[in-house]
Amino acid sequence: MKAGNLDVDIREMVIDDLPLVFHLGEKLFTPEEFSNLYRTWDEYEVTYLFQTEPEFCLVATIDDKLAGFALGYTVEKPRTAWDYGHLVWLGVDEPYQRHGLATKLFEEFMEIMQTKGVRIMVVDTQANNKGAIHFFKKHGFDNPIKHVYMSLNLDEVSREKGR
Ligand SMILES: CC(C)(COP(=O)(O)OP(=O)(O)OC[C@H]1O[C@@H](n2cnc3c(N)ncnc32)[C@H](O)[C@@H]1OP(=O)(O)O)[C@@H](O)C(=O)NCCC(=O)NCCS
Repeated sequence: MKAGNLDVDIREMVIDDLPLVFHLGEKLFTPEEFSNLYRTWDEYEVTYLFQTEPEFCLVATIDDKLAGFALGYTVEKPRTAWDYGHLVWLGVDEPYQRHGLATKLFEEFMEIMQTKGVRIMVVDTQANNKGAIHFFKKHGFDNPIKHVYMSLNLDEVSREKGR
């Protein structure tokens, strides 16, 4: 499969990909940049998604070398089973960005979701992740809903209460 001028292979993730995907994610989803407030990129995230619904864990390789990945899961809704699909982590190694790899990963991911009966796909990202927002808009995502996350520092609460 050609993505730009690169020969890309998109396939399901296998066990040997796990450490490579984890380390690429460490580069892409740093706490400062493009992290996800309610999910943390760690080895458990990768192994959990792989163990739970491996068919929604895809990798992109170029000459057998990992270049990107897409990881997600489906959400069962009462009366509309497997209706929602969540693309949680989409990442492409920096040297390969803007060559259409994420587009290929996304298209394959969407196709698999459709075959599993998913009707609505959701994505989320930090409001300052302009590249990802542009990418998702280009691929038809709209109707962004603002969601407010608030935090409470429990160490400070303890200090105030003298605990
Ligand atoms: C977002 C990301 C996955 C895009 O991967 P990619 O392989 O470069 O994407 P594509 O080449 O398929 O881009 C398709 C289109 O999306 C848009 N796009 C992609 N990256 C963009 C960026 N940084 N800024 C603006 N638009 C961007 C462009 O319209 C692009 O088309 P063009 O190159 O012809 O202009 C990649 O930049 C990445 O891994 N970012 C860090 C992790 C992240 O934020 N993931 C998303 C949230 S989980």
